[in-house]
Amino acid sequence: MSEPVFEPAADEALPPVSFRAPTGTRDILPPESARVIALVARFAELCRRAGYGLVLSPLFEDVAVFRRSAGEESEVVKDEMYEFADKGGRALALRPEGTASVVRAYVQHRPPLPWKTWYVTPAFRYERPQAGRYRQHHQLGVEVLGTEDPDCDVEVIALLHDFLRALGLERLELKINSMGDAVCMPTYRAALVAYLGQHQSGLCPEHKERWRRNPLRVLDCKKAGCQQVRVGVPRLADWLCEPCRMHFARVRAGLDAIGIAWRIDDFLVRGFDYYTRTTFEFAALALDAAQNAVGGGGRYDGLAEQLGGPRTAGIGFGCGIERVLLACDAEGALGDLGGAVEVFVVDLTGGGAARDLTHVLRRAGIGAERAFDARSMKAQLKLADRSGARLAAIVGASELESATVTLRDLRADQRRQSVVARDRLLDEVRSWLAVPAQ
Ligand code: HAM
Repeated sequence: MSEPVFEPAADEALPPVSFRAPTGTRDILPPESARVIALVARFAELCRRAGYGLVLSPLFEDVAVFRRSAGEESEVVKDEMYEFADKGGRALALRPEGTASVVRAYVQHRPPLPWKTWYVTPAFRYERPQAGRYRQHHQLGVEVLGTEDPDCDVEVIALLHDFLRALGLERLELKINSMGDAVCMPTYRAALVAYLGQHQSGLCPEHKERWRRNPLRVLDCKKAGCQQVRVGVPRLADWLCEPCRMHFARVRAGLDAIGIAWRIDDFLVRGFDYYTRTTFEFAALALDAAQNAVGGGGRYDGLAEQLGGPRTAGIGFGCGIERVLLACDAEGALGDLGGAVEVFVVDLTGGGAARDLTHVLRRAGIGAERAFDARSMKAQLKLADRSGARLAAIVGASELESATVTLRDLRADQRRQSVVARDRLLDEVRSWLAVPAQ
């Protein structure tokens, strides 16, 4: 793969450094990281309400786990995996996605079914970096093992839908498709191969090479040649066997019943070989089409068996945290998260009062910050402003002597200030904070 076209802009106000985050990766720093915390917290709460439990598993696995699940011919395995040998000579790979690890963990531990799980994880893919496409990205996801019930497909899709909508995203499109099963997919595949054989000269250069080994990939190829060939291609929907057809109909009816709009996309085959039956993807229409998939997934009823377990149905999705944040920026969603502390203690007596009062406030559940290094009053008030605190609790020589604190409302439109007894500080702060913002 040729070298990337995308490097995050260097900050010209800063001196050059010897080391930068590797190409295609980025540091997520405060305050942006507060948005990541908010996403994870909201996702965790939605999952809790729906009966999903958190799975934490190793970031690296035997390389065969990913090869067998995603498929040797998938782009992720062929071109993008971060593979390495450890000091014991084991062939390992950094996780390019979350599903394979959860299914491997299922096969290893055999929890009671249905097993409803969620995760938050970095994922590593050696892709061509650009805005919204990174070599390390982060996913929120769920996986459910042990049920073929189409209502479970609806539950999983609804979870992602409700998560995205609750963030304030409105310009979303849900695309769905069915990939069939071990009965109907091989017949469809044969029909597709026959069709592509007749039209191979029109395919893009990459698929001229690959169409026989992985004909399904032609369906979601964005290049002009393949798009042209696609026009008359056999439609998977026409080849579904009766059980798959009924399953898909029940999923669509379920989405209708709970008011989730969908559109069938005959070409939604997605990038992993493990998919069977339902596939789905949410596009954020406010983003560039090339990187607007904010989350997607589907069924993988044969995957546990492929990884050496018993035949066990499964379904899940992965949702890209960075993409969701880009979509929120584009739609002006997830604005003020209110992560600031409530009180900034300004200490003009050497720091002891700030040490003690921040401790008291924090123990009482009130966010409190302070300055270090005995800064000037002006410098401390500047830091107080930057912290976003509502109140300053100021201790100077006179307050120290009289066991008092001067409370000041820091909001620009407020002039309130008064001296309160130090042993009444908690009550006073609580009552000042209860005053609604005007
Ligand atoms: P995926 O579609 O490859 O599916 O990735 C899930 C989501 O991760 C995408 O919709 C996108 O938001 C985000 N994403 C993927 N690659 C990148 C990247 N290079 N940079 C930034 N964001 C990215 C899976 O990974 C499957 N494991 C989903 C699944 C779960 N299927 C069944 N269960």
